[in-house]
Order: sequence, then structure tokens, then C-alpha cells
Amino acid sequence: MGDVTGALIDPLDLVSPELYGERGFPHETWAILRREDPVHWCEPEGFRPFWVISKHADLKYVSSNPELFSSRPRLTLQPKAAEQQMLEMFPDAADQGGMPLRMLVTMDPPEHRTYRNLASPYFRPRIVSNLEDRIDEITRLLFDRLSGTDRDVDFVEEFAQWHPLRMLCEVLGVSADREELILRLTNELFGAADPDMGREDQENLLPEMFEFFFGLVEEKRAKPAEDLASVLANATIDGEPLPHIELLSYFVLIATAGHDTTRNAMSGGMLALLQHPDQFQALRDDPSLIRPAVEEIVRWASPVIHFFRTATRDTEVGGKQIRAGDSLLLFYPSANRDEDVWDDPFEFRIDRDPNPHLGFGVGEHFCLGSALAKAELRIFLEHMVRRVSDVGVVGELANTHASFVGGLKHLPLRWTCR
Ligand code: HEM
Repeated sequence: MGDVTGALIDPLDLVSPELYGERGFPHETWAILRREDPVHWCEPEGFRPFWVISKHADLKYVSSNPELFSSRPRLTLQPKAAEQQMLEMFPDAADQGGMPLRMLVTMDPPEHRTYRNLASPYFRPRIVSNLEDRIDEITRLLFDRLSGTDRDVDFVEEFAQWHPLRMLCEVLGVSADREELILRLTNELFGAADPDMGREDQENLLPEMFEFFFGLVEEKRAKPAEDLASVLANATIDGEPLPHIELLSYFVLIATAGHDTTRNAMSGGMLALLQHPDQFQALRDDPSLIRPAVEEIVRWASPVIHFFRTATRDTEVGGKQIRAGDSLLLFYPSANRDEDVWDDPFEFRIDRDPNPHLGFGVGEHFCLGSALAKAELRIFLEHMVRRVSDVGVVGELANTHASFVGGLKHLPLRWTCR
């Protein structure tokens, strides 16, 4: 079946950032794979080969067995030439495929747990609920700025990208005047292949990020506060401060993971509501649907497109023989449209309950910021249904050229916002 499927799909649909930008997520290709060859050996030109994991059950199995499927050395899709360049630049990071950052997402147990425990108290639902007043205020101010009758708004540029960014800066304890810098750096990292976002001197991006966060660490060591940056800057493991690279990597991860993902969920959710007016009306009529709507938005938009795992020994997934060292590519948006889990996966339905989507991952690396992301999306929807009316798309949508974390980069709307 594998060879037949190879003829049915074009592997470039799965890996090319440009195609994600031009056509959006390759849902048709994923549907073929789920049906014909759920664990599919893929050899796209210019990339090292990998197994595509397209089904919910297989993604859950792989993510839940970190001793069998390691989070390194391969983390995300990169052309072979780029991987080679990284290995040459950072030979000491060969065990991570030349990626010099040591982040939670590249660690395995037991080290992973030790590092995760440093920040996890900060992301517990009870702590996040204390942040709700601030989320509420940020949401109100952003809508205030965009209020008016029949007003043109680029929802991504003027709303969705600022909302999670402000919250992130709040959580980290970064002052508002440094927001734009964080915005630029995260765009440059996740939108590296996008003509509007990437930078010419990509090799200087990480040094610039490190310099910024090192300054923040020094600031929070000199004057600790109640924020997450202070917790990390002053954290110890076995009585020792965190090693330099691990500490700075933690900042890079939180700053990037907490921003682009939520922006894409927010804009993807807004578009889904506009494309499904009955669901939008149902949400306006019954605010108790806001909580399940948040889950459905994350399932529908699935902003994290993929992560890799690497088999630590010979094993089997979905009946396929996997060899030690093989890479497995987990496609979250595909798992979230799995026909074996939902009868109608291509319907956007805000009342799904339960909604066992994998948009936040599952198992050892389950998203640390999920409670915060959900609170942001919920409070956004609460304000939006009350304040926004006569809203519609008035121009060209545009997707980010990205195969890792993706979604809309322009959503031009006209609305009346009270
Ligand atoms: C809708 C928004 C979000 C989505 C869809 C999302 C998705 C994900 C996914 C799929 C993973 C799993 C990675 C894996 O299995 O290897 C993950 C991990 C993570 N997320 Fe999120 N995320 C979101 C928001 C946030 C926010 C707001 C933060 C923090 C402020 C955050 C911080 C993290 C961190 C630190 C990890 C790594 C956890 C670990 O490796 O143990 N995320 N996220």
C-alpha cells in the first residue's frame, strides 16, 4: 500500500513552507494518508526521510512513550542543507542535530521532568485564573483601540498577534516597551521561510535572542519579582543555578511557544466562526458554549503542525517496522481530523463535548501553557461576541509560509465594534 500511496500524494505538500503559505494546510493529503497508509514512509526531495504519523491513536502512542521515541536529535523539518549548516556551525550540539538550544521540547525523561517542574507551578490553572483580570483588561484595551462602525481591521496584525504577546510579557515580567522586539524575534524564528517575516542574516537571530534574554536574566537576578522570568533566572537544580544554555533556551521556548501558537488559534477561530455563521450565532446566543468552542477552535486551527520523534530501538507503529534511529513526524492537524475519532471531523462544531483533540500534544510534553492559552481564547470570545457585530472578511487572506507552526498572517475584516 505504501508505494501506491506514494503515487497518490506529493511529499512536497507535507514539507514545503511555500506550499503551506500558498494553499494552507494539506488536509487532502493527510486524509489520503490516514485512509491508505497511516504510518507512511516519506522521502521528500531535499529532506532526510521520515515516517509520517497521521492518525490520532498512533500520535498518542508515540508521544506517550518517550523512552521508545526520543525528542532528539530531530526536532522540526529542515532541508538537508540547513541541517548540515547547523551541524557545521554547532558541532557540539550533534546529539541534537546541530540545534544549539537545550529546551524542554528537546529533552527526554528524567531530565525533562526536572526542567519542566521549574516552570510548571507557574502554569497551573489556579495561578492562571489569577491572571484572568489582566487578560480581561488586555482584551478590553485591544478592542477599544479597534472600536468604531464599519471599521477595517487586519485581525492578525492589529489584534491576534498583540493579545498573546502582551500576556506573555506579563507572565515573563517584560516591560511593554520591549514587546515589539519579542514580536520581531518570534516572527523571525517561526516565519524564517516567509518572505515577510524571515531575515537576511538568519544566523544572527539566536545570538540576538540570547543577548536579550541574558539581559533579562541579569535584571531578574538583581531585582527578583513575582514573574516567571524571576523564577527561571533564580532557579536551581541540585543547588546549582541552571547552566547558561539551558536557562536561555527556556526563555526562547516560552517566548516563542506562547506567542505564535495562540495568535494562530485566535485568528483561525475568528475565521472559522465567520465561515460558519450558524456556529457564530449559536455562540452569541449561548455563552455557555464558549468553553467547548475554545477546544473546537484549537482542534480546528491546530496551529502546531508537527514535531519529530526518533525511535530509540527497533519497534513497530501501526503495523510498520520502525528501525532504531528512524524519524517519525507527528502531524497534529491530521490527528485532529481523524475519521476514527470524530464522525464529522471536517465540520466545525462548537458544542463538541468531549473533544479529545491533540492540538496541545499529549503525554510527556503536553503543552505547558494550555491553561493560559485557553483562558486567553475564552476571554477573547467573551468580549468579541458582546462587542463585535456586522463583521465579515473584506480582502485576501494570507497564510504564513511555515510548516512548523502555521496559520493566518493576514485576516482583513470589516466590523462594527462597540
Ligand atoms: C493555542 C495555543 C497553543 C498550542 C496549540 C500549543 C501547542 C503545543 C504542543 C502541540 C506542544 C507539544 C510539543 C511536543 O509534543 O513535543 C506544546 C508544548 C509546549 N507549549 Fe504549547 N501551545 C500553545 C500555547 C502555549 C502557551 C501560551 C505557552 C506558554 C506561555 C506554551 C508553552 C509550551 C511549552 C513550554 C511546551 C513544551 C512542554 C514540554 O516539552 O514539556 N504553549 N504546545
